[in-house]
Amino acid sequence: MSWRTPADALRNELIELFLNHPTESLSGETISEHFHISRTAIWKHLEHLESLGFVFDAAPRRGYRLLSTPDILFEPLLQPHLSTHSLGRSVLYRPVIDSTNRWAMELAEHGAPHGTVASAKEQSAGKGRRGRMWASPEGGLWMTLVLTKPIPLSRAGELTLLAGVAAAQSLRTLTGLDIRIKWPNDLLLNGRKLCGILAEIRAEAETVHTAVLGIGLNLTVAREDVPALLQETMISLSPSTSSPWTKARVAGAILSALEPLYDSLCQDAAGFSGVRSEWIALCAHMQRTITVRLGEQVVTGTCVDIDERGTLTIEVEGKRVQVPSGEIVRTEVW
Ligand code: BTN
Repeated sequence: MSWRTPADALRNELIELFLNHPTESLSGETISEHFHISRTAIWKHLEHLESLGFVFDAAPRRGYRLLSTPDILFEPLLQPHLSTHSLGRSVLYRPVIDSTNRWAMELAEHGAPHGTVASAKEQSAGKGRRGRMWASPEGGLWMTLVLTKPIPLSRAGELTLLAGVAAAQSLRTLTGLDIRIKWPNDLLLNGRKLCGILAEIRAEAETVHTAVLGIGLNLTVAREDVPALLQETMISLSPSTSSPWTKARVAGAILSALEPLYDSLCQDAAGFSGVRSEWIALCAHMQRTITVRLGEQVVTGTCVDIDERGTLTIEVEGKRVQVPSGEIVRTEVW
């Protein structure tokens, strides 16, 4: 099995062709000659694209013209928003998938190139950190990156920290909103969770050869569409049902900010240490009292530092406690 079906590839090329001819109608014959496939096959692909939300004008003699594009993460729609070499250069999209992280790992196993993005409008079994479910109704940017450049296993933890910084910085620039990071890599807006990041890795010996990096961002997710328990703690980027920022624009900004950071990690160079001071400046709880769950233990102290590998330091009754991994369960004020 190939990572991408010929139909997926052809639909991307079809949309690209229409985008390159924004004001012209293209006849069935022209398209059919261009792709060396029958007019019936073209019609079927256009029908599929219509089911994804693309709108075409079809006139008997003139042919087809693309009237509007949907707000989905679709390969040709993302390209104009990228300043990357690899990240986001191939994209696979499904209206509904169980989890883009699960799917991305499958795509990687079938040879998807480095930087491929798996995206969906909805996830039926979105995965969160620590085995939790991730509510993924319509209105979110649910995407997972396939990363296949080798990184030392000892530095794998830096990957999600880098993604947190890239997402926070690009979203702040794009929206002007005061988006902050909660350790290790949640993004908060007004103290509520806006975005979660989940990396899953495959390693051999001491090297990570495949990582899938999932980013879940509530763009216009409505409160009533997530479980009651999450309604008070989540927030969407845009309070209305339509976002002023398309998914392609948002994803393009995040991927463009992430690529140089990820590359520095692959070259066994700076990695997180290169953006540590930015992370501290963006942190929601530096110098504040936090409560951290460390396995079975729950510790409360003042958050005072983060080191070059992402280990948090908290001060508990005058003693410094290192927290390499865990979860912040409470903070003084956000
Ligand atoms: C967290 O618990 O904070 C991490 C949430 C990560 C959610 C994203 S949505 C896209 C990708 N696919 C998944 O199944 N999970 C991640």
